[in-house]
Amino acid sequence: MQTISYADRIPNNVDLAEDRALNRALERWQPAFLDWWRDTGPEGSANFDVYLRTAVSVDPQGWAHFDYVKMPEYRWGIFLTPFASGATIRFGEHKGQPVWQDVPGEHRANLRRIIVTQGDTEPASVEQQRHLGLTAPSLYDLRNLFQVNVEEGRHLWAMVYLLHRYFGRDGREEAEALLTRRSGDADNPRILGAFNERTPDWLSFFMFTYFTDRDGKFQLAALAESGFEPLARTTKFMLTEEAHHMFVGESGVARVIQRTCEVMKQLGTDDPAKLRAAGVIDLSTIQRYLNFHYSVTIDLFGADQSSNAATFYTSGLKGRFDEGKRDDDHVLKGRTYTIQNVRDGRLVDEEAPLLNALNEVLRDDFIRDSVAGVGRWNRVIEKAGLPFRLEVPHKAFHRKIGTLAQVHVTPDGRVVSEAEWNASAGRWLPGVEDRAFVASLMGRVTEPGKFANWIAPPAVGINRQAVDFEYVRFN
Ligand SMILES: [Fe+2]
Ligand SMILES: [Fe+2]
Repeated sequence: MQTISYADRIPNNVDLAEDRALNRALERWQPAFLDWWRDTGPEGSANFDVYLRTAVSVDPQGWAHFDYVKMPEYRWGIFLTPFASGATIRFGEHKGQPVWQDVPGEHRANLRRIIVTQGDTEPASVEQQRHLGLTAPSLYDLRNLFQVNVEEGRHLWAMVYLLHRYFGRDGREEAEALLTRRSGDADNPRILGAFNERTPDWLSFFMFTYFTDRDGKFQLAALAESGFEPLARTTKFMLTEEAHHMFVGESGVARVIQRTCEVMKQLGTDDPAKLRAAGVIDLSTIQRYLNFHYSVTIDLFGADQSSNAATFYTSGLKGRFDEGKRDDDHVLKGRTYTIQNVRDGRLVDEEAPLLNALNEVLRDDFIRDSVAGVGRWNRVIEKAGLPFRLEVPHKAFHRKIGTLAQVHVTPDGRVVSEAEWNASAGRWLPGVEDRAFVASLMGRVTEPGKFANWIAPPAVGINRQAVDFEYVRFN
């Protein structure tokens, strides 16, 4: 049988040309991936020439490759950060031992589960964002959407590489299943809740890339500490891409806020009805979208007390965010961490074994990072001289996972009855009307340098190009 060499078409630093088994696996998987992209990737975009960045190597210049590309021809590559010889495991019961170049038998099932769970989020977000290109507020934004989409495709490749290379037949089966689950599908959904929610409009997209891609950052950072070195090196490289996704979200929301503030000042009003009539998104609606995406995203970190989290850490599979910078024994036995619990219908602080609370530790790291960006959004409002401030809701607000899912909690942290929750939820979360209004603003803007009325232009373009550069050619 003749083996097609994918090494020429797939930029990589894993010696793909030499690896016959991997070539054979990709020979089956790569066409299935392209079918998946065609069926569930950005709708109607196959012929567009998009000004995209492609990673061609892992050195800093390797990222500088910008050109027009048709997305189905994007060169999805396989990259790991360079091998560091002599590295040792930094935490858990194997601390100080050499990192693993192969999967240790006793951790195989857990490692596979970790990789599949991460891998599943990558195609899910592409599916969630499939229709957004039809209503992009500018060519600049359309290009950014597509950049995020192809990079999530590359993240899928990154996880599939690990499955194919290190997990044999069950790895191949998992790699196939990653292409068959579908976001939001009742029969065969994606693994995690937030990745089955819809991303129906661009405000949702910006909130998603700000909050949910940031969950990606924290998960990847924890996996970048893994004792299984191929996973650590793969996720480290993925983090370089995640930064751009969060930039798209943070700057996107900031531009929506900026435009709203401009109109608030022009009209001298903060009346949502008047602002909506003027075609911009009132700040209270932005707050409700923030509440939704924030609460759905913090659920992704899992239960506040989890024996799996303890096992993953103790086994050396998944570390903490910034594990290397933490000043403790990196074993964590006998230590505690403050979590929130529900007692007699009230929220109380309680100490839990730190090892069991590692999901909560990562969630709290995420929360700190998120709050910082919300502060930057508030500076846009402050600069406009307006008194409104956006706020991150209480950690227990609108939770579906963990202890806090037992109670209804307001954005400011009051436990309320189900009746009060039902009566008020519309003030805290986007309702049908909010979503219909935001949807009514969506319409594709295709003239270079033009922007939809509800969003301000960016300060600068991509790769030092002008803001009115032709970032997408429709052909
Ligand atoms: Fe990703
Ligand atoms: Fe991402």
